[in-house]
This record gives sequence, structure tokens and C-alpha cells, in this order.
Amino acid sequence: MTFVVTENCIKCKFTDCVDVCPVDCFHEGPNFLVIDPDECIDCTLCEPECPANAIFSEDEVPEDQLEFIKLNAQLAKQWPSITEVKPAMPDADEWNGKENKKELLEK
Ligand code: SF4
Ligand code: F3S
Repeated sequence: MTFVVTENCIKCKFTDCVDVCPVDCFHEGPNFLVIDPDECIDCTLCEPECPANAIFSEDEVPEDQLEFIKLNAQLAKQWPSITEVKPAMPDADEWNGKENKKELLEK
């Protein structure tokens, strides 16, 4: 099992999640973060920290977000690790909750 970052992180990237992860398994892309499923130990700490409610346990990912399970696994191998909190993206509060952000994901 692992936890998964889903669509609402896109263009928000608050990074509060990074602060609590005991095994540093977040990886950072241009406008999105992912969790490496091979490193996540299912500690559950990150899920309530995300202001965008973008993090789910793998078995609770909403149906319209299922593609993010594979995306987290793939992109975690491409993107560098992030271990420290940084400022959210510009206009993160405005993007929080916007629908149809999937196509805005930069890889
Ligand atoms: Fe890190 Fe725990 Fe979240 Fe997994 S569940 S990504 S180990 S904070
Ligand atoms: Fe993204 Fe939420 Fe972390 S917006 S960077 S998953 S705190």
C-alpha cells in the first residue's frame, strides 16, 4: 500500500506534506508532487496536512483520480526528491479546488 497525490495538487503545491513525511518519499515536478510507492511506509501523516486535500490512501483514491496511482509511481522515478517545505505556487489559493486541472500537469 501507498499514499497517492492526486489532481488538486496541480498548480498549488503547498508542500506541507513534505514536512511530515518520515521517509522523504515526495518527489517534485514543475507544478505537482508525487509519492514514491516503493518508499512510502503508509504512516498516514501527510494526508491531513494537505490544504488541498489532494492525498489519499491508494485504496481510497476516487474513481476519477485512479490514473494518478500510476502517475505517482512513474513520475517519482523521474523527478528529484523534495525534503523541505517551500512557498506554494503563485495563486495556489485560487487554483485550490478548480476542476479539470489534469491537462495542466507539467512533466
Ligand atoms: Fe510519507 Fe507517510 Fe505520506 Fe507515505 S503516508 S508519503 S510515508 S508521510
Ligand atoms: Fe501538493 Fe498538498 Fe503536498 S497541494 S505539495 S500534496 S501539501
